[in-house]
Amino acid sequence: MSEIIKYNNDTFIKFINNKEIIEKIKNLCDELNKIYIDEKLHIIGLLDGCLPTLNEFIKHINFDYELTTIKVSSYKGMKQGDVEFKDTLEKKIKSDNILIIDDIIDSGNTIKNIKKYILNKSKNVNLKILSLLVKKEGIKLCDWYCFKIPNKYVIGYGMDIDNLFRDLEDIYILKE
Ligand code: IMP
Ligand code: MG
Repeated sequence: MSEIIKYNNDTFIKFINNKEIIEKIKNLCDELNKIYIDEKLHIIGLLDGCLPTLNEFIKHINFDYELTTIKVSSYKGMKQGDVEFKDTLEKKIKSDNILIIDDIIDSGNTIKNIKKYILNKSKNVNLKILSLLVKKEGIKLCDWYCFKIPNKYVIGYGMDIDNLFRDLEDIYILKE
């Protein structure tokens, strides 16, 4: 795979390779397999960015789970806008354990909105958050993450600009 991606006037350089990503997700799953043993988990994936992470995650967990997704969007190009999502979850989630899976937590704005929405539907649930990447203060909102990264835009492994580059198997970071 190429070491550099060019888009408009920006250059992205290879930052985390696919092997490292998979290794980290596997390690996290080993940890979660111990925590959720004998439990049933309701996983909520935040589309579209979560898909590669979610796909890898469910290969390595060995507890029972139900799976739903919410389509969320907030970015246009590399700029943040309002958090938008549709009310697609069932009225009340039956499981006591909920795990939200996301690609990246940046300002934490998205996750705060989603958390509020879920806790409004299902009170007294054990709600946890797992994200592949975290930037800056996002770390405070996250129960588990694979990589803490600098405050720069990244693409690949589900993450996009204008819906492009989600298909890259490695993660690339903006060169400034
Ligand atoms: P937040 O609301 O600022 O935490 O941003 C959350 C969402 O914005 C993430 O779930 C991503 O979908 C998107 N996002 C934030 N930073 C990046 C980035 O560097 N690359 C691609 N998408 C990003
Ligand atoms: Mg996302």
